[in-house]
Amino acid sequence: MVKIADLETPALIVDLDIMERNLARVADYARQRNLRLRPHTKTHKTPAMGARQVALGAVGLTIAKVGEAEVMLGAGSPDLLIMYPVIGRSKLERLMRVARQTRLTVSMDSLEAARQLSDAASEAQVNVGVLAEIDVGMGRVGVAPGPELVELARGMLRLPALTFEGISFYPHIKMLDDEGNAQLKAVSAMIDCALAGLRREGIAVNIVTGGSTPTLFDSHRFAGMNEIRPGTYIYNDRSVVSVGACGWEDVAARMLVTVVSTAKKDHMIIDGGSKTFSSDRLPLAGEVTFGLIEEEPDALFHKMNEEHGYVDMSRAKGRFQVGDRLRVIPNHICAAVNLHERVYGYRGDTVEQVFVVEGRGKLQ
Ligand SMILES: Cc1ncc(COP(=O)(O)O)c(C=O)c1O
Repeated sequence: MVKIADLETPALIVDLDIMERNLARVADYARQRNLRLRPHTKTHKTPAMGARQVALGAVGLTIAKVGEAEVMLGAGSPDLLIMYPVIGRSKLERLMRVARQTRLTVSMDSLEAARQLSDAASEAQVNVGVLAEIDVGMGRVGVAPGPELVELARGMLRLPALTFEGISFYPHIKMLDDEGNAQLKAVSAMIDCALAGLRREGIAVNIVTGGSTPTLFDSHRFAGMNEIRPGTYIYNDRSVVSVGACGWEDVAARMLVTVVSTAKKDHMIIDGGSKTFSSDRLPLAGEVTFGLIEEEPDALFHKMNEEHGYVDMSRAKGRFQVGDRLRVIPNHICAAVNLHERVYGYRGDTVEQVFVVEGRGKLQ
């Protein structure tokens, strides 16, 4: 049995007890609130984790890229949702190979994307579900939830080899404070408006999919939403804690690092930098830091090169020596996972299972 103490660093380690609790809690919540759960796999990018989500009752899995869909077939999910417009013939040909193996749905906000998908699906003699994406305030992708949506849905309904399933959106609400609660109400109003417009045209809507981790346990407050796609909840991270959406006890993932230099007074260098953690900052923090050092929360992990993490120890009580190993809670786990080949699942001090992050780097 490999012990955590034997792992080479930097290593991404996951407490399996916490992860399993996170997965079960959300599966239970979705079941109790009658919400379909289609977790976003961008966080773990690991078919074995997707399989666990399906085993706990997820109706399907969500992905962003065709390459991730190819990999996530390994999760044995009955259904894959691509929450990203897939553009271009060769990608669509690859996607149709996926569609031959499992039910596939794609979200998009243009008729051009729908036409390309319809052509590819017709040629491949498969049927693909489509969702019309609305913008509920993020300003990223999505049409306005009025006449533009109706026009998009009507166009999708006319195209061969596609089944119009409903609407999708990404409620990018960072935190459920007063502002976040007002945003939640505004999103609900937009969903209402979207559904009323489609209803007036006699367009049937089966799926209304949204949902993310910061608002996860308030998903039932979004009017009309019947499906959620949280991603980060499987591991959680410092960002999720910082916006009050989970506690430190719910954070499953840590970066195991080694102190490699203490040559400068009140400073130390750890063996993880931007190629280990990603450069993401905390969403609402003033001070720039790249992770929380569990053993010494007053140490400031304030700067990174690719392979060096700079830690300012001037406020810290203790001091570490070269060779000491520390656990760092990353700011943004999804971006960090994408940098790692393996995730080490542990219980207590023992590594129980090594997961290959098969979807890492699958950007095409
Ligand atoms: C379209 C879409 N759906 C769902 C999610 C999941 O969000 P979270 O990781 O906050 O749960 C994301 C995250 O980036 C997303 O882009």
